[in-house]
Amino acid sequence: MNVLGIDIGGTGVKGGVVDFPAGTIQGDPVHFPTPQPASPLALTRVIKRMVDHFQWKGPVGVGFPGPIRKGLVETAVNLSSQWVGKNPEKIFKKAMRQPFVVINDADAAGLAELHYGAGKKDKGVVVMITLGTGIGSALFYQGVLIPNTELGHLTLEGKDAEKYASAKAREVHEWSWKKWSRKVREYLQQVDRLINPDLIIVGGGVSKRAEKWLPRAAKGVRAKVVPAKLHNEAGIVGAAMAAGKIR
Ligand code: BGC
Repeated sequence: MNVLGIDIGGTGVKGGVVDFPAGTIQGDPVHFPTPQPASPLALTRVIKRMVDHFQWKGPVGVGFPGPIRKGLVETAVNLSSQWVGKNPEKIFKKAMRQPFVVINDADAAGLAELHYGAGKKDKGVVVMITLGTGIGSALFYQGVLIPNTELGHLTLEGKDAEKYASAKAREVHEWSWKKWSRKVREYLQQVDRLINPDLIIVGGGVSKRAEKWLPRAAKGVRAKVVPAKLHNEAGIVGAAMAAGKIR
């Protein structure tokens, strides 16, 4: 079975056709910039562009950068605030006349890492943290997702953690890997203290260069800390898993 997976980020929208049961993306993912502001109308156009690009007919899974409670967007700090209270599945379905399943982007990435990546064998308490424009989190126990955790918004140095420890924060403040990894360490230590997981999987594009910062960032964290295996592609694969009901 094939499912189109789309990962909406604060900076880019990525998509690819995912083959199941392999969980692999056909060819390279396609990237489009996230419209600024990312209003429901502007973002729906980009999703349509992606669907058209693949000439896709069939189920589409979408990872959305905000918690989705009972189908409705709870918050969307890295998109337009017009999304709050809206139902993205309904909006996309109406615009493209095909079925959509929309879940939180970090939950999607976590599903993929637990099924195909760094958390494959782990049945304990697993936290996936994605470091990108924001910080996303996904929590699992015995392989089952507890959706919509928002650990990216813990407080660090008196502020929202994603302002300090996201990949974007490193770029905005022009911090060295060393300086940024200390912020990530403080952040991971807090997650470790509050959740007491067995395993923390750290994902996002920066996980491709984990050797530059992860050893330092993992110091003093009691849980085992590992980089994501599917890197930035986890969000696409996990979104497609949700739409294809792969578990
Ligand atoms: C949002 C999360 C999202 C994360 C990564 C945060 O700002 O609140 O829901 O998972 O960014 O996109």
